[in-house]
Amino acid sequence: MQIYALFEIKMIKIGNLKLEVFPILLAPMEEITGSAFRRLCKHYGADIVYTEFIAADGLIRDAKKSMQKLYFQENERPIGIQIFGNDESGMRKAAEVAAEANPDIIDINWGCPVKKVVKKFSGSGMLQAPEQLIKITAEVVKSVNIPVTVKTRLGWDESNKPIVELSERLQDAGIKALTIHGRTRSQLYKGKADWTLIGKIKENPRIKIPIFGNGDITSPEIALAMKEKYHVDGIMIGRAAIGNPYIFTQTKHFIKTGTLLPPLSLAKKAALCRKHLLEEIYEKGERSAIFEMRRQYAHYFKGISGIKPYRIELMQVENVDQVLSILDKILTLE
Ligand SMILES: Cc1cc2nc3c(=O)[nH]c(=O)nc-3n(C[C@H](O)[C@H](O)[C@H](O)COP(=O)(O)O)c2cc1C
Repeated sequence: MQIYALFEIKMIKIGNLKLEVFPILLAPMEEITGSAFRRLCKHYGADIVYTEFIAADGLIRDAKKSMQKLYFQENERPIGIQIFGNDESGMRKAAEVAAEANPDIIDINWGCPVKKVVKKFSGSGMLQAPEQLIKITAEVVKSVNIPVTVKTRLGWDESNKPIVELSERLQDAGIKALTIHGRTRSQLYKGKADWTLIGKIKENPRIKIPIFGNGDITSPEIALAMKEKYHVDGIMIGRAAIGNPYIFTQTKHFIKTGTLLPPLSLAKKAALCRKHLLEEIYEKGERSAIFEMRRQYAHYFKGISGIKPYRIELMQVENVDQVLSILDKILTLE
């Protein structure tokens, strides 16, 4: 009995989905977290991966671009499909379409700060209308048979940070986990993420669902410090994973052992970047892949002395042979 109890304590549950304690999640990121990149992050230890946010309207209209974003491979599981929108019926229908792709989780984006999204009361725009936010969330929960989760921010601005109360209401609406980015909408990505209110949610005895902290986790040491200070159930990493999927291995290792793994060698980084590029090409075609990879190169080769001219070249070349030949040249910097 006692062994069983211990086993229970060691799991994190998102509805029926069970994860090892202290999962490290890959954040949804537009035009970054496609299937190829998610698989790399998974390979290096990400416990849950998410699609980029997908417009409910697009899914309802069967728009090709939106439908393509539903694509994932079995070896990415557990995977969440993230949707965003602003009305009950649209979000319900979109959740039903997304559920047909058979993900493990449907995640609702109540956090995107981008102007064209918030002005329609989507993303963090809905933080200005909490009643409606809860109504839509409850509707999505009712519409699918898989766990629904939410990703949001602290609130709209400094004078409106309802997240502590909102988290209880979201739990009552039936969500199975909540991820909070420790910024308000008005902060966009500026300033420092503040996890104080995230910690406060964890102190609330009524909260039973897993609470994941997000914002400014840039190293294994910071991840552990946030775990210990705010007692979150797991953390989500965004920008620091770009061009650096190995951060999941490093972070998990550090949290388990307190020791830091050495960084990847330049040869391994170049091999990883090459694999990433080739998988992106396989999925999206050469042109899109080459453009999307431009967001990642600087991160893959950050801090390598003598890299600058190669980085500039990587941002300019337009075919795969040219990219591969630059990656070969980068190896000579070791
Ligand atoms: C390029 C980019 C695209 C993003 N796209 C999404 C998105 O589609 N859905 C979402 O919930 N958050 C999105 N975010 C926010 C991240 O998921 C995350 O909350 C934020 O970057 C803070 O975490 P970090 O400090 O670890 O990067 C995006 C962030 C960036 C930088």
